[in-house]
Amino acid sequence: MTRHLNISDIREAARRRLPKAFFEFLDRGTEDEEAMVANRAALSALRLKPAVLKDVRRIDTSTDILGRKSPLPFAIAPTGSAGMLAWRGELAVARAAGRAGIPYTLATSSTSTIEEIAAVATGGMWLQLYVWDDREASLEIVDRAARAGAEALLITVDTPVMANREYNERNGFSFPVKPRPLLVADILSHPRWFAGVLAKYWMTGGMPHYANYPRAMSGPVTQAPPRRANSASVTWDDIGRFRDRWRGKLVLKGVLDPADAVRAADIGADAVVVSNHGGRMFDAAPSSIEALPGVVAAAGDRLDVLFDGGIRRGTDIMRALALGARAVLIGRAPLYGVAAEGEAGVARVIEILADELERSMALAGTTSVGAISRDCIWCSQPTNG
Ligand SMILES: Cc1cc2nc3c(=O)[nH]c(=O)nc-3n(C[C@H](O)[C@H](O)[C@H](O)COP(=O)(O)O)c2cc1C
Repeated sequence: MTRHLNISDIREAARRRLPKAFFEFLDRGTEDEEAMVANRAALSALRLKPAVLKDVRRIDTSTDILGRKSPLPFAIAPTGSAGMLAWRGELAVARAAGRAGIPYTLATSSTSTIEEIAAVATGGMWLQLYVWDDREASLEIVDRAARAGAEALLITVDTPVMANREYNERNGFSFPVKPRPLLVADILSHPRWFAGVLAKYWMTGGMPHYANYPRAMSGPVTQAPPRRANSASVTWDDIGRFRDRWRGKLVLKGVLDPADAVRAADIGADAVVVSNHGGRMFDAAPSSIEALPGVVAAAGDRLDVLFDGGIRRGTDIMRALALGARAVLIGRAPLYGVAAEGEAGVARVIEILADELERSMALAGTTSVGAISRDCIWCSQPTNG
């Protein structure tokens, strides 16, 4: 096994392992990828203040996330595709998260059941929900998650319609997935993925199914998840219904506008995730980090504010915490890990980010997560003359 040094190395290993259609599905954004590029550019433009001559021998990266003590200020974001990037990929990611003691978010469209994930996600399990047209079915999956011990329900609110991802069309990777010549050639030229993922599924019962959908809606992952025509009708009234039904932490994922944060607090949500969906939905949206301060100000002490979008280094985690996020979610990074090397790859991603975070905290003179604040941000001094 290669000892990768950073997330970029692991991304490159994933790129080599996966058919192009799958890698691009995981790695890319939407339309011209402005929002995705903006996520990285805006993080990198935010400079942190170096601190000197402070005792930083002991750094404590632990914090509370949604009411649970976590050794690290980050959790796994919901990503509904790990099962096709690696053999039983969601279980591998959840296991690595559990071993590291951090929360794992199970996506609605995962191929592992809520119960299977609950058994290994020992750092806490959250359920992400795309609300379906059939609201009763959505409430039922929420009840099932509660029975399995999920601690938080993350309702994704930034996907009223399907995103426009032209590369999927070009790669012959559109739903329902069919053995088009381009896709077949792509798959056959990646024999390790073919043997380790696709062929293994075929030999053990066939293509994986959406494991948490009601029977009438479920099907193999080669068919589109049945939410195309329905999320467009989801409104604040629905959120109120989920609040009434769900006793755990309620989190709205995909909030960028401070006014929506206020509304989330009014309706009884516990937290929001400031997120532009990794630049995969609305290409004209602001970068997540640009939106973070406004949401933090609007949330005050009524909501916890989580953040995602573009986290690739420990310094990025620090940047988000400095602007007021309580914790961050990582989306693509663990997917690169699982595609490259399964559970061990995800464990390495977590280890790298934890090491980098600890180093940045020391360099910024902060020995605990609570000490990371806006004071850590470098403000350029005006030059004289
Ligand atoms: C391949 C992929 C699949 C995703 N699937 C979902 C999903 O099912 N539900 C959801 O709320 N967000 C989904 N997301 C968005 C992530 O939860 C997260 O917001 C985003 O990836 C964060 O940006 P980052 O990848 O730069 O860390 C997905 C992201 C990726 C890359």
